[in-house]
Amino acid sequence: MSQSCRIPQHVAIIMDGNGRWAKARGLPRLDGHRAGAENLRRVIGAFAQRGVKYLTLYAFSTENWGRPQLEVRGLLKLLASSIRREAKELDREGVRLMHLGKLDELTPSLQKQVKEALEMTEGNAGITVSVAFNYGGRAEILEAVRHLLSDGVKAEALDDATFSRYLYTAGLPDPDLIIRTGGEMRLSNFLLWQAAYSEYYVTPTYWPDFDEAEVEDALEAYSQRNRRFGGLEPR
Ligand code: IPE
Ligand code: IPE
Ligand code: MG
Repeated sequence: MSQSCRIPQHVAIIMDGNGRWAKARGLPRLDGHRAGAENLRRVIGAFAQRGVKYLTLYAFSTENWGRPQLEVRGLLKLLASSIRREAKELDREGVRLMHLGKLDELTPSLQKQVKEALEMTEGNAGITVSVAFNYGGRAEILEAVRHLLSDGVKAEALDDATFSRYLYTAGLPDPDLIIRTGGEMRLSNFLLWQAAYSEYYVTPTYWPDFDEAEVEDALEAYSQRNRRFGGLEPR
């Protein structure tokens, strides 16, 4: 396959800009989050259709708990309502859902809802959609180290592959492409270990407006990149 028609196997998205999208319309921030949640289906469909096998979506960071209580509560409610609204349809479409992050800090009823959605879709062979909710890259690395130590993994036995198996993303390939909407050029604690050789693509477009044409633009930009992984030849 020529370089210019390369499709990334794994795309990860920092879905940013919901608040600014709402503000630009004179709406409360939560309306922006609602519009953002409603955008999920179209973006998942667009990437699935283009042959992307893994899509990872950053929905709520470990630092987002520091927002006003009303907003945090609204975001938790949105997770619940999105699962209620979307899980069955995604299951029918063959999507496999995964969760990345600390589930045990969510309410028992939300934990149950998430687990049910994961169980329902675990045998599906379509695109794997991982939702990073209550996810932090540093928390993930610390948790991995704690588990490694309690499992008694020997210092000499520790290598990249072993460490990766202790992360929330165990079994997933590293992201080839990380997209950030809303224009900021930072990782904000997302996939710190896994992003070592990811390509970055930032668009000023706010997440609720990130549509099929934007998906196309991001994939086109990716196809022009030369990935060298520290070597001299593109791979
Ligand atoms: C991203 O949108 C969603 C979350 C972080 C939960 P923001 O809420 O960060 O939107 P902006 O960055 O304030 O516009
Ligand atoms: C990153 O967005 C987290 C998510 C999209 C879930 P933030 O809005 O929280 O990031 P900062 O604060 O601008 O770095
Ligand atoms: Mg933001």
